Amino acid sequence: MSRIVVAHLCAVAAVAAGAFPAAAAEPVRFSRDVLPILSENCFACHGPDEGHREADLRLDTREGAIAVMRLDAPAESELIARIVSTDPDVQMPPPSAHKKPLTEEQVDLLTRWIGDGAQWGVHWAFEPPVKPAVPAGESHPLRAPPTQGGQLGRPGTRA
Ligand code: HEC
Repeated sequence: MSRIVVAHLCAVAAVAAGAFPAAAAEPVRFSRDVLPILSENCFACHGPDEGHREADLRLDTREGAIAVMRLDAPAESELIARIVSTDPDVQMPPPSAHKKPLTEEQVDLLTRWIGDGAQWGVHWAFEPPVKPAVPAGESHPLRAPPTQGGQLGRPGTRA
């Protein structure tokens, strides 16, 4: 076999083995990458609505989802196994739900996310701002009446 052919075969094998995953450098983000997949494909039956929850499995909380994930061996997670299965009795979402099977890219995202420790939560930029607690009452010197040592009196009155 010529050297060129051998080199070519090596390159093909390396690609087939996933040596060059397309977006390996880009970290998976829960709110942008993972949550939309789960909510679109899984929450109807494994979400917050108890009345429609199947198999007593919640995938809308980390506590629930962790039960079907293996952080040390992401690809062996029950969550992934169910998604990639082609057995209609096992496959998730079930074919009867008339949802499309997940794409390879989605499976890859979920697998990498589990391997990264299945971080749950949203980026701070998407969190609603929280108002810090301000101490209430008349303890502030500007609010205290002059007789109690307030310097400027009540707001709107002259000292
Ligand atoms: C239309 C409803 C429906 C949807 C949508 C759905 N599931 Fe399920 N799921 C079920 C039912 C019903 C079972 C229990 C029967 C079984 O084990 O196959 C189940 C079981 C499972 C189990 C096994 C739980 C266990 O304790 O063994 C996993 C894991 C799972 N689903 C993952 C998913 C994931 C991930 C998605 C989204 C990609 C999904 N499911 C979407 C109905 C659904």
